[in-house]
Formats: sequence, structure tokens, C-alpha cells
Amino acid sequence: MERGRNLKRFPSDDVVRIAIIGGSGLEELFSSSEKIYVGTPYGISHEISVCELQGKTVAFLPRHGRGHTVPPHKINYRANIYALYKLGVERIIATNAVGAINLDFKPGDLVVPHDLIDFTRQRHLTFFDQPPVTHIDFTEPYCPEIRRILLEKAKKVGVVHERAIYVCTEGPRFETPAEIRMFRMLGCDVVGMTGMPEAALARELGICYATLCFVSNMAAGISGRLTYEEVSEVSRVVMPKVRNVIMEAVSSMPETRSCQCALSPELGRKKGV
Ligand code: HPA
Repeated sequence: MERGRNLKRFPSDDVVRIAIIGGSGLEELFSSSEKIYVGTPYGISHEISVCELQGKTVAFLPRHGRGHTVPPHKINYRANIYALYKLGVERIIATNAVGAINLDFKPGDLVVPHDLIDFTRQRHLTFFDQPPVTHIDFTEPYCPEIRRILLEKAKKVGVVHERAIYVCTEGPRFETPAEIRMFRMLGCDVVGMTGMPEAALARELGICYATLCFVSNMAAGISGRLTYEEVSEVSRVVMPKVRNVIMEAVSSMPETRSCQCALSPELGRKKGV
């Protein structure tokens, strides 16, 4: 498949250039949308909703599938990212719930990480399994242009941290207090289970990617036991802010990209398919 050719057109007669990957709470932005599944060499994507948002055709991909049924370590990250690539997506805005490792961060705060550390263990982490051996540049793992727009919009709705290192763990269990102390020593600020390999796969295909995180809990060992209910409850409360930032960011996204993300080798171009 060559990018930009034979791309599917949606109701507004537009190709989808922006995608949002998120968990629960964002679906309502996409209630009246066209639902599609996209076949890829890595399997079929989750259901993708496509609709017009702020005058732009936007795709929404629920990372954990419809009804939040797939745990973090079982998500088919390659199928999801490749499906968006096939649609013609150039920019991905992700959202992630995170635990705060940095004691200055509090539940409900927004975070736009600038760097990451990958502690996942058993995920398919690349599209480049075959020759030619390919190493993407990941010096700046998150797109600076999307980050700038997310930060500008997030500052209007509440507390936002603009320098933060995201550490991705394998899950599905939460971390031990010792792991969190180690991550803090390494300089990590927030912890989550789904940020990788998503960010790296997007870069491999030349897609801009940044994430709007929200702190759903203090990380393990900081304030008592961790429960999924606590994480879900804070997520529910902060979600209107997240939706607001996403809508505003989509609205302000320039037509053309001025970052370097697309300079990474694209799978299609590299393989000449
Ligand atoms: N750890 C890992 N992932 C998470 C957490 C956490 O504390 N909170 C939300 N996602």
C-alpha cells in the first residue's frame, strides 16, 4: 500500500488525517460516527469510529476494544497503528490514565510527557522484523507540534505538567512499591501500561504521536492500596477536561506538519509495497 493512494473517503468526502486513541470516556465524542474494521498484515483492528469533529474528519480507536475488553498486554498494537496508517492518518493524539510517581503530581492533573522509558517485556514492538535492518530515531519520542498544541489547550482547563517522563510497564498488575521507588530514581514521573509500543510503532510509520495523560492515582506504595475502581472513578471525573482539550486540539491542528516525525522510515516506502 502506498500512502495517499486509494485512501478511503468518509462522509465529509475527506481522508482521515487525525486519529484519537483512548480508553473509555471518549466514545461520546463519536456517537454518530461510521464504524469500520480495518484488515492489516497483523490482524484486524478494533472497531474504529470515523466522524466529523470540529470540521475535520477524525478517527477514534478505543485501545482496549469495544466495552474495554482487552487487557494492556494483549492489545494488538501493530494492527491498531497499521490500520490508522492504512486510513491515511498522519497524526495520533493518544490519551492514557497514569499513576503519579512524582510526588508533585496529584490525581486529576493532566500531563503531556516529553520522554519515555519502556519496561514492557513481551509485546510485538516493531514493524521491522525483516531485512533491511531498520532503526528509527527516537530522540524525541513524542511529536513536538502535537505536544505544543495539547499543552496550550490543557493549560486552559487545569493543572498540567509539561515536562514528564512516562514509564510503561507490562501489567496487567499494578507495580510494587519497590518498582515505583526504582522508577523514581530513574527520573520517571508517571507510570502506565499502554504507552508502548504504541508511540514507537507510530514513529516507525512516520505518524506524529503525542499523549495527553491524566493522573488517576498516586503510584503503588505512595498512598495505600490501589484499586481499579479508584482509577476508574478519577478517570470519570477528569474525562470532561480531557474531551475539551482533545476537541480544542483537533480544531487547532494545522493542515500541514512542520515537525520531523515523518522523516522516519515508513514501512510502505521501505519495503516498496
Ligand atoms: N500503574 C500502571 N498503570 C496505571 C496506573 C498505575 O498506577 N494508573 C493508571 N494506569
